[in-house]
Amino acid sequence: MLYRNLYIENAEAASDIRVLDGKFAEIAPHLDPMEGEEVVDFGGKLALPPFIESHVHLDTCLTAGEPKWNMSGTLFEGIETWALRKETLSKKDVHDRVNKAVRLYAANGIQHIRTHVDVTDPKLIAMEAMIELREELKDVMNIQIVAFPQEGIESYPNGRQLMEDAVKMGADCVGAIPHFEFTREYSVSSLNYAMELAEKYGRLVDVHCDEIDDEASRGLETLAARALESGLTDRVTASHTTAMHSYNNAYVQRLMRLLKMSGINFVSNPLVNTHLQGRIDTYPKRRGITRVKELREAGINVSFGHDDIFDPWYPMGTGSMRDVVFMGLHVCQMMGYEEIRSSYNFISNNAARTLHLGDSYGIEAGRPASFIVLDAKDYYDALNTNAPVLASIKNGRKIAESVPGTKKALF
Ligand code: FE2
Repeated sequence: MLYRNLYIENAEAASDIRVLDGKFAEIAPHLDPMEGEEVVDFGGKLALPPFIESHVHLDTCLTAGEPKWNMSGTLFEGIETWALRKETLSKKDVHDRVNKAVRLYAANGIQHIRTHVDVTDPKLIAMEAMIELREELKDVMNIQIVAFPQEGIESYPNGRQLMEDAVKMGADCVGAIPHFEFTREYSVSSLNYAMELAEKYGRLVDVHCDEIDDEASRGLETLAARALESGLTDRVTASHTTAMHSYNNAYVQRLMRLLKMSGINFVSNPLVNTHLQGRIDTYPKRRGITRVKELREAGINVSFGHDDIFDPWYPMGTGSMRDVVFMGLHVCQMMGYEEIRSSYNFISNNAARTLHLGDSYGIEAGRPASFIVLDAKDYYDALNTNAPVLASIKNGRKIAESVPGTKKALF
């Protein structure tokens, strides 16, 4: 198969891509078709490595309004509403919703998802369902599962055992939620436990870290120190880190040294955190987003996640990472020309580092032929016009497409 006329990752000149046996065989400015080879000419469109959702909660997705709507829009009412919805949770329920969500994601060019799954459930229903789904959907979506203790490890009955059970069942990553633990001591010991578990079972780590406006929430320094000392380094990710928005600058200056040394990754969730944080502020209200720009300037890896899709905490979402990037650039004040043009990295190459996709990712000869084509010439254009994903090719097979609609003024 020969795909022609593609601007790969904002390149100035177009390239042709030859795919053979599900792999990128050749990539060059001009390739002649071989005898009998099928040719698709995109006529000068943008090709990117597949989009990646590096932080979502698929077990709660598509439940907004069930059994009631979150009328205040707050985190607190979201938790309350989810507690009601959780009573009717079944494996079939999770299967049905995740199947829908994965199709929404696929249509928007996503081929990899890291999902956090609540394990503060003595029956581990969602975890069991998600492990089945990971297998069922593997040809169309690569799903990475985090054992996520929504109600704490040390502060939830049998919390440590549930975490280990989930990891033994096959969770890919170990989670934690230090800012939610009852005490500072529990917070530290939950992180120590999560890191030990990851080492024992050879798993990655992704912690809901300091997702609170409390500037005294300092789970991040503990996580980074353990990542450094254990040698797990870039196998560790700190998600959210919204308290960092409120840390004093002298502390951040000291912290940055450790963060750089530790090699950990960050995931920021601009849609959900902009909407949920700062809720108990009067004016001025904090934006409640981590210091993405400063982390990037320090050479630290940051990706963006959607976090929630149409659930009790976030009442919107269609599985499009464009919305996430769009919001992220605004609230992090990264609207410079090059910042906009290169911002696809937050939902592609940077996220691939976080997920440890290695050589299985990227538009390069010899790698799996997985890429997407957007109806735009570069990512600045794609972001600005909300360009649809014309084709999503995974291992040489087209798994999603869209036909651009038209809208125009009639004068
Ligand atoms: Fe989250």
